[in-house]
Amino acid sequence: MRWTWRAPMLALVARKDCPQCGGTGWRVQATKGGGREAVPCACTEGGREDLARRRARIPARYEHCDFENFEVDYCCEGPDAAKWNRSLKQARAVVEKFVAEYPIGTEHGLLLMGPCGTGKTHLAVSALKALVGRGHDGLFYDYRELLKEIQASYNPESQTTEMEVLEPVLKTEVLLLDDLGASKPSAWALETVGHILNARYNDKRVTLVTTNYLDTPLKKAEDTLADRVGQRIRSRLYEMCRTIEIVAPDFRRDVRRARTTG
Ligand SMILES: Nc1ncnc2c1ncn2[C@@H]1O[C@H](COP(=O)(O)OP(=O)(O)OP(=O)(O)O)[C@@H](O)[C@H]1O
Ligand SMILES: [Mg+2]
Ligand SMILES: [Zn+2]
Repeated sequence: MRWTWRAPMLALVARKDCPQCGGTGWRVQATKGGGREAVPCACTEGGREDLARRRARIPARYEHCDFENFEVDYCCEGPDAAKWNRSLKQARAVVEKFVAEYPIGTEHGLLLMGPCGTGKTHLAVSALKALVGRGHDGLFYDYRELLKEIQASYNPESQTTEMEVLEPVLKTEVLLLDDLGASKPSAWALETVGHILNARYNDKRVTLVTTNYLDTPLKKAEDTLADRVGQRIRSRLYEMCRTIEIVAPDFRRDVRRARTTG
């Protein structure tokens, strides 16, 4: 699919010393009708997707993630294997459909819930990568990292203001908030996250969220998502996101170990 670059972005990837475009990223070519038109210069090719990804701040650790390399049949032991594979397959299908239809009929984001290593971030990043690759504006933020950056901005010696950190998070078209609830909730953190989610909700912006915390934990002693983020945020997420619960074993532990030892 072709999409049009915004002019300033093209200048960012253009070769600074390009003889064709002089580093602007645009060159003029003759049209069939005898006119002239500006087209992206060849020196910007190849760098585009990389740039889109860098702008979206997708960590190198997740750069490889896409739908094609998301395995949905890695569970092969025990009575639950078929059920787990179904859960993976369904999760991938829902996220892929979301991407295919975006932005039509997607007033909801996605909330991917499940235990460690079940591919929640992998799927969410696959979606974000596909969307920014298509020219949508998106941003990856780890939940703890975001709170840390905001907090650091309060320091009088900080180079950035709170608003400089918050603005892109509030305004980006698609936000991926990874590992929601990962840190112990302070009143301040809940207030901040509540504000971000509310603002995005009111502006009808899509948010993709991943979390380890379930509504009904697998073990009684574990926290629920509401324990980690408060009832108000949990309830807001119901309105904002379609919930996808992944039930499967840890891919990192089970699959990687099996492949390296056997
Ligand atoms: N079904 C899968 N197919 C291929 N790779 C996978 C699959 N599930 C997970 N992985 C890989 O395993 C690693 C862990 O997955 P990921 O980070 O997405 O898990 P997670 O559910 O977000 O875990 P956590 O709760 O710890 O954040 C990643 O490198 C990811 O690419
Ligand atoms: Mg994750
Ligand atoms: Zn050029």
